[in-house]
Amino acid sequence: MTWTDAVVLARVLATPDIAVLELGPATGSEFPAHTAGAHIDVQVGSGPVRQYSLCGPPEPGRYRLAVLAVPNSRGGSRAMHALAVGDHVRISDPRNDFPLAEARSHILVAGGIGITPLFAMLGELERAGADHVLHYSARTRSRAAFLDELVANPRVTLHFDDEAPGRQLDIARDLGDPRPDTAIYVCGPDGFMDYVLGKAEALGWPRTALHTERFGTGLADSPTATGEFTVRLASTGAEYAVPADSSILDVLLDNGVDAPYSCQQGICGECVVRVLAGDPDHRDDVLTDSERADGMFTTCSSRAHSPTLELDL
Ligand code: FES
Repeated sequence: MTWTDAVVLARVLATPDIAVLELGPATGSEFPAHTAGAHIDVQVGSGPVRQYSLCGPPEPGRYRLAVLAVPNSRGGSRAMHALAVGDHVRISDPRNDFPLAEARSHILVAGGIGITPLFAMLGELERAGADHVLHYSARTRSRAAFLDELVANPRVTLHFDDEAPGRQLDIARDLGDPRPDTAIYVCGPDGFMDYVLGKAEALGWPRTALHTERFGTGLADSPTATGEFTVRLASTGAEYAVPADSSILDVLLDNGVDAPYSCQQGICGECVVRVLAGDPDHRDDVLTDSERADGMFTTCSSRAHSPTLELDL
């Protein structure tokens, strides 16, 4: 991966727990252009690498992103929130795994921090004069980002859990029956996305109409992993204890093992190795069932059901 030095040009708190950062090149070089739905990898110091969607607008020389403060963060969001104007970070070139589809009509459905890529899409669809709407759902008005830029837009409907009954997101009403040549884009926390996608499919929307982006399980940034176990390396026979609050990858790196990795969130596949013995507890968002059945395993996010796991490392 190619890394570029970037400097924080602006930082504002969009809500008490969402920081909006604008990054520019630290040297005279230009940032590559990006399209709506793109994201970049960001690393603060030697901390973990995290993915953030670019929220647009596509201003030359600037990337704008929004960062949600994750409770009990182990470095990612906490370090990002601590950044000030003038601080430096490393970023990757933009990648777009969530592009706008070829469709006559577009329905954007955002939950919480999931607004970030959809906010960029909204701008691109408006500039293109395309038929589109955005439904933005948040727990409260005070926890919704970009409200100033959304509230007067007639194509945007805001849904807040704590406001008048009937104003909350209603998938049957807000998506309606399946229509040809219509693309639906969903982004938000896993539970929100599962809910929206399940309802959409129950309404008869075909999977090909549904477009999503997930940024991992969050395991790498929160102490949700449970159970201690031992990991053994087949090449040397070395064994390491993996505590309940550490990933296998963290333990390997701490012990000087040259293990591959990038995202540390179970979404890129860079850390995949083969399991030779033991019962893996897969917690990634990248491997298919057949790859798992074939022994593939992510060291950054997955764990073990068995007391020992032997890896082809
Ligand atoms: S480092 Fe990306 S999936 Fe593990």
